[in-house]
Amino acid sequence: MLDNKKTATLNVHGRTLELPVHSPTLGPDVIDIRKLYAEGDVFTYDPGFTSTASCESTITYIDGDEGVLLYRGYSIDDLAEKSHFLEVCYILLYGDLPTAEQLEDFETRVTHHTMLHEQMQYFFRGFRRDAHPMATMVGVVGAMSAFYHDSTDIGDPWQREVAAIRMIAKMPTIAAWAYKYSVGQPFVYPRNDLDYASNFLRMCFAVPAEDYEVNPILARAMDRIMTLHADHEQNASTSTVRLAGSSGANPFACIAAGIACLWGPAHGGANQACLEMLQEIGTVDRIPEFIRRAKDKDDPFRLMGFGHRVYKNFDPRAKVMKQSADEVLGLLGVENNETLQVAKELERIALEDDYFVSKKLYPNVDFYSGIILEAMGFPTSMFTPIFALSRTVGWISQWKEMIADPSQKIGRPRQLYVGPPHRPYIEVEDR
Ligand code: SDX
Repeated sequence: MLDNKKTATLNVHGRTLELPVHSPTLGPDVIDIRKLYAEGDVFTYDPGFTSTASCESTITYIDGDEGVLLYRGYSIDDLAEKSHFLEVCYILLYGDLPTAEQLEDFETRVTHHTMLHEQMQYFFRGFRRDAHPMATMVGVVGAMSAFYHDSTDIGDPWQREVAAIRMIAKMPTIAAWAYKYSVGQPFVYPRNDLDYASNFLRMCFAVPAEDYEVNPILARAMDRIMTLHADHEQNASTSTVRLAGSSGANPFACIAAGIACLWGPAHGGANQACLEMLQEIGTVDRIPEFIRRAKDKDDPFRLMGFGHRVYKNFDPRAKVMKQSADEVLGLLGVENNETLQVAKELERIALEDDYFVSKKLYPNVDFYSGIILEAMGFPTSMFTPIFALSRTVGWISQWKEMIADPSQKIGRPRQLYVGPPHRPYIEVEDR
């Protein structure tokens, strides 16, 4: 419940408005401007929402200055080290650590929803083989809204629960089949005797011609990557899911909208763009050229995997990812990976350069993830689909929270109109 003890005074157009100020559990106070237009006849203006809270949430908290990320109060460092992805899914969906019995029940329910309706295969086959797997995922996840009619009454908590389980369970199958289709190999069905991450790796890399043994090192690394990407407050794709869901749209269609937004190189597409950038740099001696370009206002080039709207310190996920990259590549015997060396040297040079230090640009979650995924055998085109399958639990948890929030309304921002005033229509012969 929001407290209304404090207020902010605003003097505008000769009026003095007292606006309620609400205090959070963690983070800055917020000024409640819901009555601003009605009482003050003005809008606020905040393109990109750099200073705007769009909702009240209990799910994830980021302290950008301290480089802290909490899922339901549990730190990402603790969860990455001590938990596993399906337990993190439970925490994000239901708010607390599960008992052993609750966890077993949840994992059993997810495991038994990993298959797709057999007819959904036809959607994959409608794409060109060279379609980007993110395009395929947007299409196939959107198509789920045409297949699962028994979980679309968003007013029914049980149907919301079923839709959430279905989304979390089926996304690895969809991502794996998008990959298989792109490489011309047959789809591999999920297996109920494998854990979530192992199932995904097997669906990606198994072939009918020979058995596939899941490497436990890679499975643990993949599970940790999923945990690190699971949720992140009101980022662009989560805000897209909330906005789509605020109209009462089909939950699967809302997740498809989130996937579309995540694809952009400024957001989840940065992991693919970052590895391609590191490969373009190629060797350590070419780093200064790219640092110069990143600082050049006339050059659109940016250091992909660097900078963040919220983190003005090290992204805690990047720290864990960097440790995991060292561990996985070392265990795979490729610790001298040139791309990893370029990434580490690029990070070192950038963090000594005043341009990056003054703008508080640090490596983000996308800077090291691609190095691990490439070492696992994934093409760069699969990096963002893996981000999408990991973020699905965050999107669906935020969507559930919004739908259940009695104060939620359809999202409908206003604007600062700077176009032409009213003017008369002129017949074409008179122009
Ligand atoms: C994700 O929101 C989330 O939580 C997202 C995410 C999640 O988990 O959901 O964390 C996932 O999207 C991580 C970010 C992945 N994107 C990239 O790595 C792409 C490269 N980074 C940038 O495009 C940029 O840093 C953003 C988009 C991430 C943030 O941009 P902002 O907050 O809008 O900041 P800005 O563009 O206004 O930049 C501030 C200044 C600018 O210089 P000035 O105009 O002030 O002179 O910093 C510069 C920018 O030019 N800058 C960079 C830079 N990022 C910002 N300069 C060079 N290289 C960069 N990467």
